[in-house]
Amino acid sequence: MLRRVYNGGRPAGTLADPLLRWFRRSGRDLPWRRAGGPYRVLVSEMMLQQTQVERVLPAYARFLGRFPTPAALARAPLGDVLRAWDGLGYNRRARDLHRIARLHPRRLPRDVDALDALPGVGAYTAGAVACFAFGARVAFADTNIRRVLGRVVLGRTATEREAVSIDASLMPRDAARWHHALMDLGATICLARAPRCAACPAAALCRARGRVPAHAPRRQTPFASSDRRVRGRIVSVLRAGPRTVATLTRSIGDRRVPRLVDALEADELVERSRGLVRLPA
Ligand code: ADE
Repeated sequence: MLRRVYNGGRPAGTLADPLLRWFRRSGRDLPWRRAGGPYRVLVSEMMLQQTQVERVLPAYARFLGRFPTPAALARAPLGDVLRAWDGLGYNRRARDLHRIARLHPRRLPRDVDALDALPGVGAYTAGAVACFAFGARVAFADTNIRRVLGRVVLGRTATEREAVSIDASLMPRDAARWHHALMDLGATICLARAPRCAACPAAALCRARGRVPAHAPRRQTPFASSDRRVRGRIVSVLRAGPRTVATLTRSIGDRRVPRLVDALEADELVERSRGLVRLPA
């Protein structure tokens, strides 16, 4: 049924064959795709959740140099983990990764549902880890996969639900290469605003081919100094050592600092003692 609806009755190989052929020639050689085990895959996926590949590359090498195993990560104080997370932002991810290492210092669960239940791990990350680390043939979709599969089959970006259905109906035997190829096509050819359809291995099949307006308007970015950014600046200052709330407020120059210190404390990303705010021991 799905295959008929989503693939026009064509065999599933119709997209997989040209895509995987393209990937062999043009796919990205990224360090977390080389054999390295589940922990490295998890670290990379947590980092890649909200951060671009170029920014993740140096942070990933540095982080694994400092915490080469889940046991090493579990032994470290959270403050050290937050210091090693420098440059990535969204510090809750570092806290969650640390919590996962403390829950599973020896080996990660293999099962998608057990992965999905881990702190900071949602459907996408659970699927990606099950697939890339354990070879599971599981369907999942990030932004790039939603855009690529959606455009090819529906003529527009798919919702996550739609993309997961399409993914399940078209996935070939080698699920890891398939998902890597979809991600790379989305990152280098099937771009959100100016897709390079002339260079696309799926162009002949694609319902959106030539229909995406070149230079579609960029979505408005949120106001530059969101709470998230100020939270990030607070953690950044504290990487150098403890501060009073007054000093933090003065050095950051934002009246939201006291409220955001409270929020960071509630998230267990900072601690307070003897009038000083610090990264957790
Ligand atoms: N390779 C494996 N997972 C990836 C991701 N989330 N983004 C880009 N490349 C990847």
